[in-house]
Amino acid sequence: MCGIIGIASNKSVTPNIIQSLKKLEYRGYDSAGIATIESGNLDEKKCPGRVEDLEKILLKRPSQGFIGIGHVRWATHGIPNQVNAHPHSSDEVSVVHNGIIENSNELKKDLEKKGYKFKSQTDTEVITFLLTDFLKDFDLVIAINKTLKALNGSFALGILFKKYNDIVVGARRGSPLAVGYGPNENYLGSDSYALKSMTKKITYLDDGDVCVLTNNKIDFYNSKNKKINKEVLILSDDKHTAEKGDYKDFMSKEISEQNITSKNCVKEYVDHLRKDINLYNFPIKPKDIQKIILIGCGTAYHSCITAKYWFEELTNIQIDIDVASEFRYRKIKFNKKNLYVFVSQSGETADTFAALDICKKNKVKTCSIVNVVESSIARSSDFVLPIHAGPEIGVASTKAFIGQLLVLYILALKISDIRKEILKPDYEKKINDLKKLPDLIKKTLNYCHNNTPIIAKDFLKAKGAMFIGRGISFPIALEGALKLKELSYLHAEGYPAGEMKHGPLALIEEGLPVVILAPRDRYFEKTISNMQEVIARGGKVILITNENSKIISENVRFTLEIPITNENLTPLLMTVPLQLLAYHVAALKNCDIDKPRNLAKSVTVE
Ligand code: F6R
Repeated sequence: MCGIIGIASNKSVTPNIIQSLKKLEYRGYDSAGIATIESGNLDEKKCPGRVEDLEKILLKRPSQGFIGIGHVRWATHGIPNQVNAHPHSSDEVSVVHNGIIENSNELKKDLEKKGYKFKSQTDTEVITFLLTDFLKDFDLVIAINKTLKALNGSFALGILFKKYNDIVVGARRGSPLAVGYGPNENYLGSDSYALKSMTKKITYLDDGDVCVLTNNKIDFYNSKNKKINKEVLILSDDKHTAEKGDYKDFMSKEISEQNITSKNCVKEYVDHLRKDINLYNFPIKPKDIQKIILIGCGTAYHSCITAKYWFEELTNIQIDIDVASEFRYRKIKFNKKNLYVFVSQSGETADTFAALDICKKNKVKTCSIVNVVESSIARSSDFVLPIHAGPEIGVASTKAFIGQLLVLYILALKISDIRKEILKPDYEKKINDLKKLPDLIKKTLNYCHNNTPIIAKDFLKAKGAMFIGRGISFPIALEGALKLKELSYLHAEGYPAGEMKHGPLALIEEGLPVVILAPRDRYFEKTISNMQEVIARGGKVILITNENSKIISENVRFTLEIPITNENLTPLLMTVPLQLLAYHVAALKNCDIDKPRNLAKSVTVE
């Protein structure tokens, strides 16, 4: 993770670096730092904590330089303290880094033998000293490439040099990096989102690229020290806003936007007049697909599990699901008749990207479902299906989950239609149901708005919580548990309801909150039986079912009744109360909702 920024300008760069770091804070928020060139010397200011803590330091001791780099950290090596915060500087070089240097211990030993004294526990400081060392004997670009060749692992770097005091240098391998072109200044950043307020003209670096920015030009070099040309892209105007507005935090805004997210998504893909789904230039003939493999991490992985149920119901295609961090290291038998689908909000998740890369090397067809269309995963896959959710800033994924579910469902429906595995009237009926979904999400949001804060109080004294469901409600139970644990730091488990008797039932004790997902589907009666087993053992049941389910059990502590829709779309509505529940438990516990501890939004390390 970590966010990096660099600016070469003809005016003080501190204000823009600070603004950009605030935008990059979703990538890491345990420490922040800046380095500028002040009267020909490198000047570094850094601290544990947030960008606002760094701002306070800069108020007392301003940085005025025209050339600078900045960093927000998500700790990998060494605790978040002042010494481990980036930049890491010698007298000659200052470095900010996103990624992990896997051979840092060996490199450190060699550098110590040469007399370099390390101050931090980070893996980054080896880059500072390697550069310092190579610069004694080599010109700039050669010294940089020699340094990069010595590194194993992943990195995006921003570098300042005392000797070359009008440039910022960037380099990447495995971690994302972009440059932006401005009037009288140029920029380096972890993503285009950080650069968007300053410029719309950008270039993405590829692995092995090095860039050298001055205030009026950007040069690119390859790993053989040869100058190269790169494509300049113009970013589209974003109709979505990344401001909090009147909301207390981004997460409450993003949850409440989910009816709009679904509306945009449906509008993009569904042609209501023709009662059809628009998917053009699909990379593989749906009729020829032998197997679909759905891959993601965390919440995105939960959308893959949910989609498996849809694909299996609507098509005869064999479906596999995989966590990207496992897929990338397993001995996979690739098949050209398979379609490999990668799901990622950020489009930058290192494990998902690595899994995609392996597929590309094996020359199989890939499709990505992403929110950030300029992301590395979107750019690398054969076919992209954007979810159109707009910027998601809260670290916990909410509206992107709804978008991912919808696009996956739409994809399953379309493939089923092309393969003639669904009857036309059923296909058209399901398309019609999609049109009604945004209003049903809105209705569910309104309904849950008042009652979830009351239910949340029950979780305050709990040791943990369980979420259970059958069939397609099972992945939603997993997602409910993930949201609760990451936001409120309460231990939470998601389980298939039928699995409880095989072990997890031992966890049920007097007062343990158990959220039962029991929509009026084919599993309803069985899930209700599982609910009774929980009640019999003292569990405090929160039942989420459909309107008019007419479950009367005096031992159910709370019942939430969500609107009735077709069974396929029920999981999207079931998600809403779970998100709100996690939100309100976290709020009652005074947790930092948008920036949960130990996490970051864009997971660009393994
Ligand atoms: C949980 C959450 C994470 C992400 C995961 C993948 O709320 O946000 O589990 O879903 O890190 O991120 P993306 O979707 O960006 O690949």
